[in-house]
Amino acid sequence: MKIAVIGGTGLIGSQVVKNLAAAGHEAVPHSKSTGVDVISGQGLDEAVAGADVVVNLTNSPTFDEASPAFFQTSMDNLLAAARKGGVGHVVILSIVGTDQVPELDYYRAKTLQENLLAAGAIPYSIVRATQFMDFIDAVLSWTADADTVRLPATPIQPIASKDVAAAVAEVAAGAPLNGIRNIAGPEIFTLDELGRITLSHKGDHRTVVTDPSAGMFAVVKGDVLTDKDAHLAPTRYTDWLS
Ligand SMILES: NC(=O)c1ccc[n+]([C@@H]2O[C@H](COP(=O)([O-])OP(=O)(O)OC[C@H]3O[C@@H](n4cnc5c(N)ncnc54)[C@H](OP(=O)(O)O)[C@@H]3O)[C@@H](O)[C@H]2O)c1
Repeated sequence: MKIAVIGGTGLIGSQVVKNLAAAGHEAVPHSKSTGVDVISGQGLDEAVAGADVVVNLTNSPTFDEASPAFFQTSMDNLLAAARKGGVGHVVILSIVGTDQVPELDYYRAKTLQENLLAAGAIPYSIVRATQFMDFIDAVLSWTADADTVRLPATPIQPIASKDVAAAVAEVAAGAPLNGIRNIAGPEIFTLDELGRITLSHKGDHRTVVTDPSAGMFAVVKGDVLTDKDAHLAPTRYTDWLS
């Protein structure tokens, strides 16, 4: 199949392109740096024309109140281009439980992205992942100072980006779900515990202080899959750290 991967130069997108190519598909990466802009629409019609599937792995430059406008405009432009180009399946990557956290601009933005896709005329799939292991360092940096890192005890089930990419590629190559597939890593930690494991692995002697009000995850009840039958990805956090 011909598969256009928008955001195909990013953390997940670049790995999705590799997985799809290894499975024998013609996977073409597009992004701002290749001249395709989902906000201005530049190059988008050409990028998706003739593709059987479009995978959208772009991300907003910020996670703040500007993020809903990014996902609104990018999805409006992408879906219009996909309709024009006769695309038969559009895939996006969202966040487990995104609709449960309307307090966060970014989660509201991702819910908006999901709703725009589901309301459109094109068959679709939504893959929802828990937090990427690759993102944990950034989470720790938000509430760190020279001596401490403050983190809430929010349950987190981190997933390796390579496992996310494998799941997205599998969904992209399959029939449209017209629904959601949830994916997560194999273990549940609390975020403060995850912080201690991460700092200890790096030989970083700062102390993790459990603080229910610290950072973005203070308002997230749990970034975990509760469905006992859910498919869990194989990579464990300490193996990933190593
Ligand atoms: N972080 C998490 O834990 C998590 C969890 C669940 C889901 N997700 C979702 O996963 C998706 C992919 O995330 P990621 O970490 O792979 O993102 P990333 O590494 O930041 O990559 C973002 C990609 O989007 C492209 N892009 C940004 N603005 C663009 C624009 N205006 N026009 C065209 N391309 C543009 C970038 O292209 P250039 O490099 O050329 O600028 C890059 O290819 C996101 O939608 C995110 O919401 C993340």
